[in-house]
Amino acid sequence: MSEFNDLLRQSGLTREEAAEELGVSARTIRRYESGETQARPRDLRVLKGLIAAGARPIARSAAVPFRFVDLFAGIGGLRLGFESIGGRCVFTSEWDEAARTTYSLNFRDNHELGGDIREYSEDPSKVPEHDVLLAGFPCQPFSIAGVSKKNSLNRPHGFLCDTQGTLFFDAAQIIAYWRPKAFVLENVKNLESHDGGTTFRTIINVLRNELGYHVQHRVISSDPWVPQKRERIFIVGFREPTEFDFDRLEVPSAARGPKLKDILQPHDEVDPKYTLTPRLWQYLQDYRAKHQAKGNGFGYSLFGPNDVARTLSARYYKDGSEVLIEQPGSRPRRLTPLECARLMGFDRGDRRWRIEVSDTQAYRQFGNAVVVPVVEFIAKAIEPHIRTAIETAGQMASEPHLVPTVTRPDRSSAAAYA
Ligand SMILES: C[S@@+](CC[C@H](N)C(=O)[O-])C[C@H]1O[C@@H](n2cnc3c(N)ncnc32)[C@H](O)[C@@H]1O
Repeated sequence: MSEFNDLLRQSGLTREEAAEELGVSARTIRRYESGETQARPRDLRVLKGLIAAGARPIARSAAVPFRFVDLFAGIGGLRLGFESIGGRCVFTSEWDEAARTTYSLNFRDNHELGGDIREYSEDPSKVPEHDVLLAGFPCQPFSIAGVSKKNSLNRPHGFLCDTQGTLFFDAAQIIAYWRPKAFVLENVKNLESHDGGTTFRTIINVLRNELGYHVQHRVISSDPWVPQKRERIFIVGFREPTEFDFDRLEVPSAARGPKLKDILQPHDEVDPKYTLTPRLWQYLQDYRAKHQAKGNGFGYSLFGPNDVARTLSARYYKDGSEVLIEQPGSRPRRLTPLECARLMGFDRGDRRWRIEVSDTQAYRQFGNAVVVPVVEFIAKAIEPHIRTAIETAGQMASEPHLVPTVTRPDRSSAAAYA
């Protein structure tokens, strides 16, 4: 194998990506590959530099050359899924500094990371053209924990929560402007039932009736892929009618899914700092006893190697109580950040995940994230429809539409969507 071919393979770049990185045409890359033309020393240097940078290539396959944007990106779980089908991320918005650190460490990018989404929804022309829009808009206002916490503080939640709950509309505004061929939105399962269904009806109403998309949704649990039961709702919309049928998509059975032993580190590799202190362990046991006496199911959950964990939450750093790992003859321990990376499918197969933030931040990031193989599964299912949509449109670019502002319900009119 020639040095160029070897470096190209190591870089993981597709021919088109390599062409872009080296500033030559895809035809020239083909000539380099066949040996018809000798690659310039500079080209070899650039490829070596990209490989040495250590981060993952921008995209791994050119099967479907399409561009997507990654909104509320977190650490890029949705992105990994859509890169797995050959998509190329052209824009990212994430405002949390620690999440941005992890994201930049794991994705070598040709674009700046955008911050607050509101800067872009106010002027969507700042977002580049794209074929697919991905958005894991913040779930806290809609999750059971978020709602009960806000209820107990007597604060509004969902759309009535002025900041976080309305962020869906910022994504909708960008969809309204760019009219991508497809979008995939992700949220907690509880989004469907929040506020007696009003929140979800509002979202679907905007997507279907105001934006005119063909919208389907489905709750999918992650346990066929990872040893964690994490149910998330995925909302998929296509600008034009397609034959995609979310309900008929055959999800693998969880019965044959992996168990915790498949992702746990060997005992001697786990730093003792992850074992609960005697004080915290006593506190959790007392707390459970108190609530059990009252007939409540609250408390910690212990898991062994043959189990499947409960949903990892963004609060895992606090006491780890939702997923504690049994240690025979000792107090239980938390999962390590590496085990969380595996539990969420970020570190899986030949993909390694780099973590250089504090444990607290790492737990928050994984607790907020999507399970990557679930997104890979969905991305694979919709890939042919994206390809068809691109072919039908006959061009890669979405035409920006100057549309009126998406209707945002105010506090008094939110119920009007019900
Ligand atoms: C549910 S998480 C998405 C996680 C992502 N899907 C992943 O796999 O990591 C929502 C993200 O939205 C970010 N976010 C919240 N408000 C934002 C805003 N106004 N602008 C940009 N990002 C925001 C949060 O920091 C958080 O990382």
